[in-house]
Amino acid sequence: MPDQNGKKIVFSGVQPSGNLTIGNYLGAIKNFSRFSDEYKTFYCVVDLHSITVRQVPAELRRRTYETLALYMACGLDEKKNTLFVQSHVPAHAELGWILDCYTMFGELSRMTQFKDKSAKNAENINAGLFTYPSLMAADILLYQTDVVPVGIDQKQHLELARDVAMRFNQIYSDTFTVPEGYIPTETMKIMSLSDPTSKMSKSDPNQNSVVYILDSKDDVMRKFKRAVTDSDSTIRYSEDKPGVSNLMTIYRAFTGKSFEEIEREFDGKGYGDFKMAVGEACADGLAPVRDEFARLIADKAHLEAVMKAGAEEAAFYARKTLSKVKRKIGFVV
Ligand code: TYM
Repeated sequence: MPDQNGKKIVFSGVQPSGNLTIGNYLGAIKNFSRFSDEYKTFYCVVDLHSITVRQVPAELRRRTYETLALYMACGLDEKKNTLFVQSHVPAHAELGWILDCYTMFGELSRMTQFKDKSAKNAENINAGLFTYPSLMAADILLYQTDVVPVGIDQKQHLELARDVAMRFNQIYSDTFTVPEGYIPTETMKIMSLSDPTSKMSKSDPNQNSVVYILDSKDDVMRKFKRAVTDSDSTIRYSEDKPGVSNLMTIYRAFTGKSFEEIEREFDGKGYGDFKMAVGEACADGLAPVRDEFARLIADKAHLEAVMKAGAEEAAFYARKTLSKVKRKIGFVV
């Protein structure tokens, strides 16, 4: 639904639950700034979501600042985008509870992320981990969001948000905009460097599987040098070559070259040369982000001012939706 200036609305979020990876960058954050001019954009650091898995308090606090600084280092100008921290806008938690009551146990039980995360955190399968998608639906629906840029791993959650919005609208008449995903087909799922059949994830305990946005050039080169390929030696994009195909996807994202061009460029060359080239392209592509990040993270007062202004702006929009919801449900407001 357009905002008061007639602009459509974009919302997305990233958890401050680990160091951000090139999966987060290529699948999500890098695409955020393309909406800044034509849309009203809300980009949130979703700290409430991150406590579904136990966090070390000092690290959570540090990563919250870092995630905000990374948003800005990746090109999100705080004057053109509303940048804020989820727990600073209480309407998220409030609508989250309300939507819990419109989300079915069966729906939540089918979420693959819940199944994966509960298998990995068997000692802490808490209720928040289970109802996580209702809070994510609240994030999105609070702003009457039209478009949600995310990687493919969030598609199932997004579909649930759409179903909850439609269910609520059907019971109480039109209340929420039903959002669409924006999933970049070229980089929607960057895979682990050591196991290219699984997603690159910031919570992966094996540091060699993951390239972090803030890794030094040496680390980036070392990780790509070790990346798993296959016993063949041709550089060709193919489903039966997941390691090479993942490296080609990363190389394409950082150089803008097509798969055909990449295949031609490395025709007759070995994996060693190819991996070095991917490492160089990735490290060079990330260098400006790293430099800008170093500048931004040194000024905590500025980051605090950005998050405060962002939260005020976000709360203004969120309150409108929340009071509409409360009235429709029958709460005394
Ligand atoms: P999170 O923090 O796990 O990831 C942030 C964004 O990065 C994308 N992503 C990837 N894309 C491509 N390849 C990968 N290997 C990869 N890993 C992560 C994710 O798809 C995501 O877009 N539930 C969300 C956070 C969230 C949210 C929201 C997102 C909470 N509320 C509302 C959108 C709208 C999450 O855990 O993302």
